[in-house]
Amino acid sequence: MSRYLVHPGSQLRGRLPIPGDKSISHRAVILGALAEGVTEVEGLLEGADVLATIAAFRAMGVEMEGPDHGRLRIQGVGLHGLRAPGVPLDCGNSGTAMRLLAGVLAGQSFPSTLIGDASLQRRPMDRVLRPLAAMGAEIIAQDGRAPLRIHGRPLRGIDYVLPVASAQVKSAVLLAGLYAEDPTCVTEPAPTRDHSERMLRGFGYPIERLGARACLRQGGRLHGQSLQVPGDISSAAFFLLGATIAPGSDLTLTGVGINPTRTGVIEILTRMGARIDLTALREVGGEPVADIRVRHAPLQGMVIPPRLVSLAIDEFPALFIAAACAKGRTVITGAEELRVKESDRIAVMASGLRALGVTVEERVDGAVIHGSLLGGGRVESHGDHRVAMAFAMAALVARDAIEILDCANVATSFPNFPALAQQAGLLLAVADA
Ligand code: S3P
Repeated sequence: MSRYLVHPGSQLRGRLPIPGDKSISHRAVILGALAEGVTEVEGLLEGADVLATIAAFRAMGVEMEGPDHGRLRIQGVGLHGLRAPGVPLDCGNSGTAMRLLAGVLAGQSFPSTLIGDASLQRRPMDRVLRPLAAMGAEIIAQDGRAPLRIHGRPLRGIDYVLPVASAQVKSAVLLAGLYAEDPTCVTEPAPTRDHSERMLRGFGYPIERLGARACLRQGGRLHGQSLQVPGDISSAAFFLLGATIAPGSDLTLTGVGINPTRTGVIEILTRMGARIDLTALREVGGEPVADIRVRHAPLQGMVIPPRLVSLAIDEFPALFIAAACAKGRTVITGAEELRVKESDRIAVMASGLRALGVTVEERVDGAVIHGSLLGGGRVESHGDHRVAMAFAMAALVARDAIEILDCANVATSFPNFPALAQQAGLLLAVADA
């Protein structure tokens, strides 16, 4: 249990390299393991979530060297080369690891068990179990939740319309589709991150995308690749927030992925008045990348259009803080998915902001946040990495210091957050609770 103590009054300046994208890192490990031949990954995120995915494939006989300074060399075993793990596969805090692995494991010829920490055991897994069962999978859960006991078996294809906009469910179905007898298609109700589709194609597996529907056929193979993971815009988001709200800030975040299914945060902050410029646009590992310069600017509250919610789904903790620092009211709707993230992010952000004196009306699918001056105080992160990082940035403009409890899980997605934040100028101290 570690906690952060962050003092107000500083500004964020300089150039910061943003660590690798978590979603792409998980997929690089999974597809590299299932590919034929060697995959060399650079820029891999060495966060606890991705390390859990690496450990799971090692337990299934996949040899890997690293990770070391973001490099990982994977000796792929091919689609049918995994071995039965002798132990339960521990996904830790990671919903992505559990849901994507459920898709891979459903079609194997051996049984397996997926377990996770207390937060992961509370999160809904029925959203992947339902389509996988329709494909013929046999998975036993506890009331739709982990642990998942999977009896791998031959699968049928499916033409599935996702009831929720979820890249994890889409990816689980597509990964299971690699093992199905006939084609598998998924249609999404709103655009979600498309890294699985891009990367399957990048590894040489044919996949068709027509509007909201992605389909893959049988008989393809994955071929080992060299790939570079772009910086995670979801990690960059905390610095976009901090530099926007703290007067005098001028920060450049380098090598950040700007895949259009992920850039909702830039669109929302810009519409609120943020001063964000994209420079050095380029392509890295099949993904668009840029350096992002952000300077202080006053924010104005807004009604966030629901169509932007799935494009900024992980950035709402940061956006709650931006809204609290903005002039006027910000209205968030259509965001009920926030209640089933690493914590109930609507309830946890609302109560953290209230502890700092901000008026927040909680709604089932969002919140109304009234911009005001922030006081100092103590905030519970409920073990949610993104809640902890968002409140750390809030301290830049608070009247007094903010103490944030239960911050160890920042290491799941952004292990060097404290060091980078200090380097940029945040007055942050880490203490063991
Ligand atoms: C992810 C998808 C999103 C996101 C999560 C990572 C992925 O979850 O919140 O951090 O890598 O596919 P949902 O699919 O539950 O929206």
